[in-house]
Amino acid sequence: MRVGILTGGGDCPGLNAVIRAVARKGIVHYGFDILGIKNGWLGLIEGRILPLDLASISGILPRGGTILGTTRTNPFKVEDGVGKIFAQVEKFELDAVIAVGGEDTLGVASKLHDKGLRCVGVPKTIDNDLRGTDYTFGFDTAVSIVAEALDRLHTTAEAHHRVMVVEVMGRNAGWIAVEGGIAGGADIILIPEFPFDLDEVCAQIQSRRERGKMFSIVVVAEGARPKDSSLIALSGEKDAFGHVRLGGVGNLIGREIEMRTAIDTRVTVLGYIQRGGSPTAFDRILATRFGVAAIDMVQQEKFGYMVGLQGNRIVHVPFEEALAEPKTVDADLYEIAKVFFG
Ligand code: F6P
Repeated sequence: MRVGILTGGGDCPGLNAVIRAVARKGIVHYGFDILGIKNGWLGLIEGRILPLDLASISGILPRGGTILGTTRTNPFKVEDGVGKIFAQVEKFELDAVIAVGGEDTLGVASKLHDKGLRCVGVPKTIDNDLRGTDYTFGFDTAVSIVAEALDRLHTTAEAHHRVMVVEVMGRNAGWIAVEGGIAGGADIILIPEFPFDLDEVCAQIQSRRERGKMFSIVVVAEGARPKDSSLIALSGEKDAFGHVRLGGVGNLIGREIEMRTAIDTRVTVLGYIQRGGSPTAFDRILATRFGVAAIDMVQQEKFGYMVGLQGNRIVHVPFEEALAEPKTVDADLYEIAKVFFG
């Protein structure tokens, strides 16, 4: 068989571990030809496809990013994008495509599968908000980075008796904020699932001061928003999947807290630090398990499914089920975080 693999959407640590696992098992165990498709769906439209051999995947396990490159290209928004994809599939004699991506990339995989492309999905989102899998790789790395940042911000916040607002990733769901915040001992965590009230936030900060704790760490997910307000976007521009670029909620909250409480407040936006660099051991193992499972599915000719982790078992989830709606933060987990608020 000739199998193409592509990585689409925002990158995250562990993508190279998936590519390595797919190629290693595909080449050595099944005798497949594995082809790397550059830059997500764009590479399939343009025919930027090259063979992967054992040498090209050597040494990539601990590397962040993706050796294949990535874009947020939506073939359904490109003139004759779908027609071009099927032409390239024929030209390169691809028997199957493994798409590694989040809701947008897998949404395209699902639609192309309905049109006859033999596709397997591997879930990827730093935000951990895909349904059908308990975890996506990259998320554990991001949580570790947030926890380490909070440890560092604690010491400077305490020294200066300041409020530190820390903005982290999380467009539709606050998984990074909640898990990173619990791990790093946040005093308040604000997430998209529960619009916040700034008066309440300020009251929590004040009452903590009255208890003698002269600093506060407030973690906010980029998609969090005040009650009765919409998402805080950096600009009105939308990507090919209709998402606005978020950013700015941390600064808004920081300004308001300082104005309302007269407490010295600083803001840190962690940004792309959370997505860069080497994956944790957990993410390397999860990504490897996903890659092996994906190529096994190709060998079994089981298409139209995404691999996932449920409990500690690898499962196969139909695309429609995985893509039905985002996986938002578990209310019980948020209750645990709230025990430590204020
Ligand atoms: O979708 C994952 C994500 O990291 C979001 O948390 C964030 O809003 C977005 O990607 C950033 O996208 P880009 O890489 O296009 O700036």
